Amino acid sequence: MASYDVIIIGAGPGGYVSAIRCAQLGLKTAIVEGRETLGGTCLNVGCIPSKALLHATHMLHEAEHNFAGMGLKGKSPSVDWNQMKSYKEEVVGQNTGGIEFLMKKNKIDWIKGWASIPAAGQVKVGDETHETKNIVIASGSVPAALPGVEVDEKFVVTSTGALDLPKVPKKMVVIGAGVIGLELGSVYARLGAEVTVVEYMDAVCPGMDKDVQRGFKRILEKQGLNFIMGAAVQGVEASKTKAKVKYALKKSPETEEVIDADVVLMATGRKPYAEGLGLDALGVKLTERGQIATDAQWRTNVPGIYAIGDVIEGPMLAHKAEDEGMAVADVIAGKHGHVNYGVIPGVVYTTPEVATVGATEDALKAEGRKIKVGKFNFMANARAKAVHQAEGGFVKIIVDKETDRVLGAAIIGPAAGDMIHEICVAMEFGASAEDIALTCHAHPTYSEAVREAALACGDGAIHS
Ligand code: NAI
Repeated sequence: MASYDVIIIGAGPGGYVSAIRCAQLGLKTAIVEGRETLGGTCLNVGCIPSKALLHATHMLHEAEHNFAGMGLKGKSPSVDWNQMKSYKEEVVGQNTGGIEFLMKKNKIDWIKGWASIPAAGQVKVGDETHETKNIVIASGSVPAALPGVEVDEKFVVTSTGALDLPKVPKKMVVIGAGVIGLELGSVYARLGAEVTVVEYMDAVCPGMDKDVQRGFKRILEKQGLNFIMGAAVQGVEASKTKAKVKYALKKSPETEEVIDADVVLMATGRKPYAEGLGLDALGVKLTERGQIATDAQWRTNVPGIYAIGDVIEGPMLAHKAEDEGMAVADVIAGKHGHVNYGVIPGVVYTTPEVATVGATEDALKAEGRKIKVGKFNFMANARAKAVHQAEGGFVKIIVDKETDRVLGAAIIGPAAGDMIHEICVAMEFGASAEDIALTCHAHPTYSEAVREAALACGDGAIHS
């Protein structure tokens, strides 16, 4: 039995980043992880493998649709699905291996197994109980079950099963037009599956900017995704080879509609995961939605126990968990830990990408705030045109009407997920749109569209 300053439970982006920061701050640190590899959902069965498949299938799309026009003649590549999955696994392996290296480099002990907390100051793994001054729970989330839908990870799958299907289905039904549904739906549509997304709300990606929702859906439809909107899925009936998805349209709730599928992807959200930790016995308070309740310093109501990431309130995003992981380490080390929840970007890694940060136009209008909006279409961005990614994309920046201070932004376009950080930095520094507009942007880059949108908040964009 060893004794630590901090034991972190869960080695996803929240947990492993927190462990590194704790070690950097001189705390004797261990991390508990029951999976065979470090990195949590994100690296093993989430962000990273899905990005590998998105990349590979984007290349396929380019070869099928754009190569000939660029003078690249020849037969379109055929898909070796098993090889594509091996490539994905290789990417995962490189990344999880990298985290293991970082744990060793920072002298963080990896305690292998599933943890429970018999009492504050103790973490039990297998038969061993380890003493620790502080515990950080970073145990993440799992897919939320939909009533009437039984997941077998074969015909009815969550994102985990969807990353590892034995073959590309002919017909896939995706339940939920959120981030997972649209990213993985795009992957299978590009691989040739007939993909239908069934969504309860009237717009994709609930909560996002309305212009983005409309534009994004149009782009995805052009790419071959079908949408049934305003439809509540009520159940899935799976036989040995097929599944039937039952839903009712909100406008005629009494009529049951049915759609057939070879594979159904359930992408209707995730829920916090804290199984087996013994939180009940410890008296750790939960929120109404089953998240671990914390204060502004990520303390639970039990002294010495902290929680971060998907298991607490807030967006279920790896980078939000990372920020909390660093901040809680600072708090434990006696420093000031801070996360600016107003500047957490959200990205959908389709092609084109979608990225947002800060407040939406609608939310600000509803608050009665006086705002200005600057918008610039990628159709007038030379670089985006050169790579066939100009159509339908735009940058939209929202600023305070009086002060010109940037309050939020939304981008649909190439590398939107990278470009959004210019806006994030501007928001962190309390910058105005004029500050962005006065900053020299290299030509020809996609980022020029951000400058143009900033110019559009003032006297006007140059290229529109
Ligand atoms: P989500 O919350 O983004 O979307 C779920 C969708 O399912 C919603 O549009 C909802 O209206 C719909 N829905 C719920 N019940 C339904 C029903 N009975 N019938 C029809 N539609 C129904 O959840 P998602 O996509 O599963 O993602 C889970 C979490 O993982 C999210 O918090 C997301 O942010 C995160 N994530 C983030 C990624 C990224 O940052 N790129 C990638 C993957 C996941």
